[in-house]
Amino acid sequence: MSEPLLTLEAVRKVFPGGVVGLDDIDLAIGSGEFLSLLGPSGCGKTTTLRVIAGFETPTSGRVILDGRDIAPLRAYDRPVNTVFQDYALFPHMNVEENIGFGLSLRRVAPAERRKRVMAALELVGLPEKAAARVGELSGGQRQRIALARAMVCEPRVLLLDEPLSALDAHLREQMQLELKRLQTELGTTFVMVTHDQTEAMSISDRIVVMNRGRIEQVASPAVLYDQPQTRFVAGFIGTMNLLPARVAAASAGEVQLDFGAFQIVTPVEDVRLPAAGSEVTAGIRPEDLVLSGVNGAIKGVASSIAFHGRSLRLRVEAAGGLSIAVDIPRQGDSKSLGHTEPVSLSLRPGALCRIFER
Ligand SMILES: Nc1ncnc2c1ncn2[C@@H]1O[C@H](COP(=O)(O)OP(=O)(O)O)[C@@H](O)[C@H]1O
Ligand SMILES: [Mg+2]
Repeated sequence: MSEPLLTLEAVRKVFPGGVVGLDDIDLAIGSGEFLSLLGPSGCGKTTTLRVIAGFETPTSGRVILDGRDIAPLRAYDRPVNTVFQDYALFPHMNVEENIGFGLSLRRVAPAERRKRVMAALELVGLPEKAAARVGELSGGQRQRIALARAMVCEPRVLLLDEPLSALDAHLREQMQLELKRLQTELGTTFVMVTHDQTEAMSISDRIVVMNRGRIEQVASPAVLYDQPQTRFVAGFIGTMNLLPARVAAASAGEVQLDFGAFQIVTPVEDVRLPAAGSEVTAGIRPEDLVLSGVNGAIKGVASSIAFHGRSLRLRVEAAGGLSIAVDIPRQGDSKSLGHTEPVSLSLRPGALCRIFER
């Protein structure tokens, strides 16, 4: 990233009553980036957005935009706009008035205002709705109008708080693509809150995974999936078998993990070579395991099979009391896998176990 557009430095937010909303957040956001804040309910996503927008004052720390501390600026004076979860459109105004509201506050002349409102409507694909009442619009159309209203003032940063959560699954997927297209077209920096990992993964340049007011990891979708840095991220992004193990032996590039009833040798992905004898959590993706005749290291019985489109998700109760998810191709002998069928699993060649602190 070149010079960041927006930086949060050691931002902490303690609410009256002592609830820690944000616990020391450091984050640098690049110009033109589509960044998502992802995490479970209550982890501090909305608070982060509100601190950037100026609706919330940090207890300590700094928010820097374009190289200057924006703490003294009130929300209205910040070059930032927010799209709220419930759209927050004004019901007594028509579409044009809704979109033009921020421009009137900024005393933009009517002719110029109308021009910009129409351009914004064009951008979200609803040029014919200028005179419509909010009540006449569908959920998807309201969402587009809320977007147009937030973008018409040409903010440096557009903040979006769960912008698509009120839409049904099909429309939601369509709007995700629209959001991405808009962001690319405008080159505006988007910071979007979502608790939906699929949504975050499909449209973000980078994702900030948050947990309990802290940042666990900031990375591209692919890096988050392939190289989760913490046990929390490993368990939150995609499906990961998280199994307790003991490090039986560790040498450069290779670790032998003892799961009690079986052992697995895995390459280690990074410099975080665990100490021999330490208790760890091993993370294995379901797609990194294969059924392997009778020779696999992991012996168990199949307890259930679920349909997952191109693959089947098999649950295996392994020796030693571990329950393990395995993805297997639909073709082949999967039909014969009834309940309590003995199976044997091994790590797919080239795959690895991730190793986390217990
Ligand atoms: N105004 C407030 N007063 C007290 N606690 C708050 C307030 N706003 C948020 N919190 C608390 O701060 C934490 C983070 O909240 P929030 O940022 O809304 O989470 P998220 O958007 O990730 O679900 C939660 O524990 C929440 O209850
Ligand atoms: Mg929230």
